[in-house]
Amino acid sequence: MTQTLALLGGEPSVTAPGAHFAWPPIDDTTRAKVAAQLDTAVSIPGRSGIVAELEDALQDYFGVRHAVTLSSGTSALHAAYWAARVNAGDEVIVPAWTFHATASPLFHLRAVPVLCETGPDGNIDPTRVEELITPRTRAIMITHLWGRPAAMHALRAIAKTHKLALLEDGSHAHGASHGGQKVGTFGLAGAFSLNGPKPLSGGEGGFVLTNDDDTYYRVLTFAHYNKRAKSEIPQGHPLARYAVTGSGLKLRIHPLAAALANDQLGRLDGYLAGRAEIARYLSEQFADMPGLDVVAMPDGVIPSWYALTFTYRPDELGGLSVDRFHQALLAEGATEFDRPGSTRPMNQLPLYRQPGPLFPGHPHSHRRYVDGDFPIAEHTYQHTIKLPVWHREQDLPLAESYVSAARKVIDHHKELL
Ligand SMILES: Cc1ncc(COP(=O)(O)O)c(C=O)c1O
Repeated sequence: MTQTLALLGGEPSVTAPGAHFAWPPIDDTTRAKVAAQLDTAVSIPGRSGIVAELEDALQDYFGVRHAVTLSSGTSALHAAYWAARVNAGDEVIVPAWTFHATASPLFHLRAVPVLCETGPDGNIDPTRVEELITPRTRAIMITHLWGRPAAMHALRAIAKTHKLALLEDGSHAHGASHGGQKVGTFGLAGAFSLNGPKPLSGGEGGFVLTNDDDTYYRVLTFAHYNKRAKSEIPQGHPLARYAVTGSGLKLRIHPLAAALANDQLGRLDGYLAGRAEIARYLSEQFADMPGLDVVAMPDGVIPSWYALTFTYRPDELGGLSVDRFHQALLAEGATEFDRPGSTRPMNQLPLYRQPGPLFPGHPHSHRRYVDGDFPIAEHTYQHTIKLPVWHREQDLPLAESYVSAARKVIDHHKELL
């Protein structure tokens, strides 16, 4: 390998062919289970078959009373807000930096997302929540960004003091825990995506967890009209008479997605343990490299390692821009080094600045967001470089080659200035 940077005409450091990271891992057992589902049922309107199997397995895994599968993480979040009785004009405090679907369903409920500054780790800053609470605040929604559990004990205490519903978006963080408790189980409800690259994947899909019976009936009413609502909401419950129509929406998971997710759930802890090993190796290797700070993991936290994140430090590399540094990594063949795209501070998104044209009359007018409203979220977003975390021992050489690629770019950064 020459030491000339690939961006300047040298040989790339990483020569392994093909995509370097594929998710979810699919083997012959997975294929057989999904294929078998084709012969069993491809539409399941009740809580039976693979849908019941998956929901039972989710309840066991998370240690909760109820798990309800849905068509996506977005629909799970929408259902969770509705189930938490977030009504028109209510405010919900959400992290300023997250994937927009954490908060966007609120517009459909004519409720107001109130963005809260995040900390240098990307998670909502608990010290900035209380200043946003008003008489209209109904709930706090937490994202565990990149699979790193947020400060749940502090956030739960705030929610309790102010009598707010605590909700979680665990879409990056299946199996992650804080103080021994799995994320998604701290508050009234946890919503999760099962979309493609998520730690637990069904290709598409989502689910809501709750220990509260009423919230469970409300999720069913919102998203699972007719058969499920009729059989699971008890006679005499105020929602039972709406069973035929529910709220009017049908947001079921596809049975093939449920079969895939069910197969993956049995492997999830193995994936997380493997990722933890490789994340430890990578964190050690990057610890003393100038220019890239590994974002520290607090004590008592077990992440899902949806990504290993770095904060880029141009001041340590002669002011080299993050764009050029990232281009140099990609040119070295380290194509999995990524910068967050659509998971961005939401004050930058037109939907959050001006929802009116999409939602005429939306009561958002008292929250007008502009660039610079969330300096920490915006700076961290701009300077984040991330890697997916491999989980198999045989992936270690690839991880090593990524370390070499980064070291080469850092050692030669002056040539890029
Ligand atoms: C944090 C977060 N929340 C919600 C979602 C939405 O999930 P889905 O794509 O399954 O609708 C995503 C998806 O990328 C996400 O990253």
